[in-house]
Amino acid sequence: MSHGFRIGPVRVANRLVLAPMEDVSNQPFRRIAKRIGGPGLMFTEFVSAMAIHYGATKTLRKMRIHPDERPLGIQIFGGEPETMAETARIAEAMGTDLLDINMGCWVPKVCKTGAGAALLKDPDLAERIVRTVVAAVSIPVTVKVRAGWDYSMFAAPELARRFQDAGAQAVTLHARFAKQGFEGHADWELIKRMREVVTVPLIGNGDVKTPDDAERLLRETGCDAVMVGRAAISNPWALARIRARLLGHAEPAEPTLEDRVAVAIEHAERMVAFEAEESEPGDPDLELRAIRQLRGQLPLYIKGCPGAAALRGRLSTVSSLDELREILGRFLLESDREEAMVGTSSASR
Ligand SMILES: Cc1cc2nc3c(=O)[nH]c(=O)nc-3n(C[C@H](O)[C@H](O)[C@H](O)COP(=O)(O)O)c2cc1C
Repeated sequence: MSHGFRIGPVRVANRLVLAPMEDVSNQPFRRIAKRIGGPGLMFTEFVSAMAIHYGATKTLRKMRIHPDERPLGIQIFGGEPETMAETARIAEAMGTDLLDINMGCWVPKVCKTGAGAALLKDPDLAERIVRTVVAAVSIPVTVKVRAGWDYSMFAAPELARRFQDAGAQAVTLHARFAKQGFEGHADWELIKRMREVVTVPLIGNGDVKTPDDAERLLRETGCDAVMVGRAAISNPWALARIRARLLGHAEPAEPTLEDRVAVAIEHAERMVAFEAEESEPGDPDLELRAIRQLRGQLPLYIKGCPGAAALRGRLSTVSSLDELREILGRFLLESDREEAMVGTSSASR
């Protein structure tokens, strides 16, 4: 099996893809994920076509791309072909390599506008959106779907067939039904069944956490690439391990506690720098705004390490870079001291 694959003219160097994740897959996260984990392809968090249509600058920012992260796909969502096409054109002008259409988001705020997974219930509109977007841009258009709206119908194969005819150049299946949310398990059998109808590259997604999972998903379903989401949050090393396995390389060593702390701080610094690009110089709330977005992710960097649970509370209210450095610096010192004490007590036995 070759190491990479192509989506239209876009060459993807390996079979690991980083998932689009709202409030997670922003530029700072993606650049860290790329440097440490090296996925062949990454996607932005989803971008509302309607918000872009109304000129929301905060939403526009989600489409800013750094050359380090390419190839990259900007993912957009919406329920109207024309606004989707308009946003696709803007995304193309911002330099994206691929344009991905979200048809998997099940949350009510998205579905009630007719977007995301709601499109799984309206194949004609879904196809029209794909066709209109394909006609609007010259980069490849891809679609990310769930298996269907509910268990009563595995709609994805028929939809995928229509999307291919409409010009889509790859399809991702998150192997759950929309009604499931994140419950139960992803059913990889559904990915295997999609393989029978999808002739463009098929990206399989759902519950891949380890190199074994990734290898098994590729082997059992025949899909072209594996998309990883939650396992990569605050854990780019999980991507590195999976990538190494897929490339037949030796698996990298586990990160040390120092590595984890250093990358947590780097992530926060990058968030602040990214926020600063669009803020007034000297804006006193800038750090707080940037770091607040990371509060949920910071504790995950050290999850499972001795003493980490006690830090959860403090990390979830942290509001500046200095405070973060202080908390994590003290945590490292304390764990060094504890290790030294364990060393002394076992030496004296
Ligand atoms: C916090 C979070 C945000 C997400 N946001 C998006 C999104 O913006 N667009 C999308 O297509 N899927 C989104 N997803 C779904 C993921 O892309 C992926 O399909 C799902 O998490 C299953 O993969 P996993 O088991 O590897 O996490 C999101 C998932 C999570 C956990």
